[in-house]
Amino acid sequence: MAQAKVIDGKALATQLNAALQEKITAFTAQQRAPRLAVVLVGDDYASGVYVQRKRNACAVVGIDSVDVRLPHAVTQAKLAAQIAELNAEPSIDGILVQLPLPPHLVASEIIALINIAKDVDGLHPLNQGLLNRGAAQHVPCTPLGVMRLLQHAVGSLAGKLAAVIGRSVLVGQPLSRLLLHADASVINMHSKTPNPSQLARQADILVAATGVPRLVTAAWVKRGAVVIDVGINRTEAGLVGDVDYEAVCHVAAQITPVPGGVGPMTIAMLLHNTYNAARRKLQP
Ligand code: GUN
Repeated sequence: MAQAKVIDGKALATQLNAALQEKITAFTAQQRAPRLAVVLVGDDYASGVYVQRKRNACAVVGIDSVDVRLPHAVTQAKLAAQIAELNAEPSIDGILVQLPLPPHLVASEIIALINIAKDVDGLHPLNQGLLNRGAAQHVPCTPLGVMRLLQHAVGSLAGKLAAVIGRSVLVGQPLSRLLLHADASVINMHSKTPNPSQLARQADILVAATGVPRLVTAAWVKRGAVVIDVGINRTEAGLVGDVDYEAVCHVAAQITPVPGGVGPMTIAMLLHNTYNAARRKLQP
C-alpha cells in the first residue's frame, strides 16, 4: 500500500534555525545577543524537559536564555512581581512562562501581565485579539510552526478545506485564524462536534490538536489529505500523537511524525519570535 510522504519538521526546523543563527550573529555584532527569560514554576518533569529543550535551542542560534525558576508554592503576587521585574528589565527581549502552572495560580492573569512586545509565546489577550486582524506583535509558536510546515509541504493554502480538531487557546483557535488568513476554508472541530470523522474526512488539510492519543484513525482522513499531528501524549506504549500514524499513513499524501514533526517547529518559532522582539526594540 502507498505510504504518505513524511513531513520532516526536524529537518525544516534545523534549516530555519541555521538561517536565523546567521541573522542573530550579524545582529549581535551590531547590538547585543537577543535575550529570553524562561519562567518555570514547580518541578513538573515534562515541563522541565521542554524548558531545557528551548534553552538548548536558544544556545545553538545565539540567543541568551535566562533561567527563572520558582518553587511550586509561589504565590500569584510573587509570580506577578517577577513578571513586572522582567517587563522592566531592558536587557530582556522575550518572556516565556512555561504552562501549565500549578493549579493554585491563575495562568491567564499571569500571561496578561506580560508586556505584549515581550510576549514571544503570543498568548497575551491583546496579541490574541490582534491576531484576528493579522496584527499581533507575536503569533503563538505552535500554530505558527504548523503554518510553516504547511507552506513547506503544500505551498499555497488558498481554497483548501482545512479541518482543525481542537479549540485550545494555545493551538486550535489561533491556528484556525491563521489558516483563514491564508485563504483556506476552515472547520474548527472540538469535543462537542457531532460526527467528527465525517467532517474531518472532507478536509484537504487535517490538523489534530486534541491531546487524545490516536484519536484520528484512517476513517477520519480523505485519501490524499495532508495530516499534521500536534499531539504529544505519553502513554504506556510510549510517546504517541493524536493520529494513528500506522493506519493514516496509508491514506494521507503527507503526514507529520511524532516526535520530529510539529515539536521542533514550535521551538524554531519561539527563537524566531525572540529575535523579532529584540530586533524591533533595538533596530526600530
Ligand atoms: N506548554 C505547552 N506548550 C507550551 C507553549 O507553547 N508555551 C508555553 N509557555 N507553555 C507551553
